[in-house]
Amino acid sequence: MSQESPTVTFELADGNTATVDVEDGESILDAADDAGLDLRSGCRQGQCTSCTGKLVSGEVEYIEEPKAVTEDKREDGWVSLCIATPDGDCTVAKSDEVLVEAFPRVWQDLDVAGDD
Ligand code: FES
Repeated sequence: MSQESPTVTFELADGNTATVDVEDGESILDAADDAGLDLRSGCRQGQCTSCTGKLVSGEVEYIEEPKAVTEDKREDGWVSLCIATPDGDCTVAKSDEVLVEAFPRVWQDLDVAGDD
């Protein structure tokens, strides 16, 4: 088979972007790690919310059922990057600001809201 790997373009803090190839069955977070991006993460099992990103375009499939990002959240575009793999090329916003927006009660104490 000669299918090209899908790419994920990350919209990072400060307007930077980075595009990575994601191998078949590989999680988006693992592909980001392989590319040297230093994205916030934790459990790597879909349970803790720290890897949550916002899908800007494209679609993802889940390697396993997400626990932290509920179906309602997924419908709004939030993605557990540690257990998601792209279904074609995608763009994902990933920053601490995204975390605060997605889970304000969990992440509001992050020093990212510009209120210091
Ligand atoms: S790293 Fe914990 S949910 Fe992805």
